[in-house]
Amino acid sequence: MIVEKTKLPKSSDILSPNADDSLLEKLEDYIIMQQQYNAAIREVTTKLTILDEEFHVRYDHSPIHHIESRLKTPQSIIGKLRRKGFDVNMKSIREHLMDVAGVRVICCYIDDVYRIADMLLKQDDVTLLRVSDYIKNPKDNGYRSLHIVVTTPIFLSERKEYIPVEIQLRTVAMDFWASLEHQIHYKNEKEVPEELIRKLKVCADDIAKIDGDMQNIYNQIR
Ligand code: GTP
Ligand code: MG
Repeated sequence: MIVEKTKLPKSSDILSPNADDSLLEKLEDYIIMQQQYNAAIREVTTKLTILDEEFHVRYDHSPIHHIESRLKTPQSIIGKLRRKGFDVNMKSIREHLMDVAGVRVICCYIDDVYRIADMLLKQDDVTLLRVSDYIKNPKDNGYRSLHIVVTTPIFLSERKEYIPVEIQLRTVAMDFWASLEHQIHYKNEKEVPEELIRKLKVCADDIAKIDGDMQNIYNQIR
C-alpha cells in the first residue's frame, strides 16, 4: 500500500512580505486549516494501515484492499455551505462541515468493513461523532457503505487540535458500483432516466448478493 505525500501550498506562496490585505489573511487562515485537516487524514490513514499490517502479520489476511483520501476543494466547501444556508467563513467550515477531510477504506469482505471500523473506534484517541450504516440500511438507489465521522487529535507545534474526518468504508464490490454510479450522474448533465436508475439499483442488489456469497466462500476456506 503506497501512501503518497500531499503537496500543500505554503502561506508564503500567496502572501507578499508586507501584505495586509484581509483577503490574503483569510487565505493564510485557509491554508493553515488545510494543513490541519491534511494532518488528520494522515493520522487516520496511519492508524488504518497499522491495523491492516497487524492483521497481515498475525492472521495472513489483509482486510484493507486500499485506502484513498482527499481534502474537500474550496469550491466544494463554499458550494456546500451555501446549499445548506450557512455563512461562508472559517468558523462555519469547522462547525458545520464534517467531510473536509475524507478517507475511503476499500475492504476485501463485508466482515472486514465492520472489523476495521470497530478496531479504529476502540482506540482511545478516536471519538465517534456520527455513523450512517448504508450497508444495513442501503440508500433507495442501492448505495452501500459504512460512513463514520470521527475526531482525532493532531499535534501541532504549540497545541493539539481535534479534527473531524469522514471515513467511508466499503467492499471492493460496493466501491465498483459507487464509482460507476457517481460517474453516470456526473457525466449526465440532464437527469438520469428512471429506467437507468432502476437498473443501477438491480446491479447494486446483485453486487450485495455476490458480496455475501464471497464472504461465505472465504469463511468456508478459513
Ligand atoms: P452530504 O451533504 O452529501 O455530505 O450528505 P450527508 O452528510 O447526508 O452524507 P452522506 O452520508 O449521504 O454522503 C456523503 C458522501 O457519501 C458523498 O459525498 C459520496 O461520496 C458518498 N455517497 C453518498 N450517497 C451516494 C450515492 O448515492 N452514490 C455514490 N456514488 N456516492 C454516495
Ligand atoms: Mg457528508
